[in-house]
Amino acid sequence: MDSDRIIQRLKELKQEALALYSHFHVAAIIETDSGEQYTGVNIESSSYGLTICAERVAVFKALSEGQRRFRRIYIMSDGGKPCPPCGACRQVLMDFAPDIEVVMIAESGEVKTSPLKELLPYAFDNKRLNS
Ligand code: THU
Repeated sequence: MDSDRIIQRLKELKQEALALYSHFHVAAIIETDSGEQYTGVNIESSSYGLTICAERVAVFKALSEGQRRFRRIYIMSDGGKPCPPCGACRQVLMDFAPDIEVVMIAESGEVKTSPLKELLPYAFDNKRLNS
């Protein structure tokens, strides 16, 4: 999908964020190896700690529909600059999509791209659970 189209979709999706408390809207689109796309927005709870980020909504939607292989995740937030995923989302992505490429896009079109492995070096993973 071309980048203008992704930017447009992310902008539209961001409006669906349920960010009553922070007023900070985030959208994510995760793409499977075969090119299917699953969307997510951040959803905030009145019990603030129960809030879930856009990236985890997207990956959980995809996982719950049986998807297991992912190549890319696009992220856009309010704020004018490319938005990096939070630590919790990096961990969940590492658990389910360690080889994913993270594409952080500002509304202006400014883009930063990074392999997840560079955003979460020396990561914890389930291999450590069996020692
Ligand atoms: N948020 C995301 O959706 N993704 C991130 O990677 C960073 C933070 C959301 C969570 C909360 O609803 C709001 O942004 C402010 O932290």
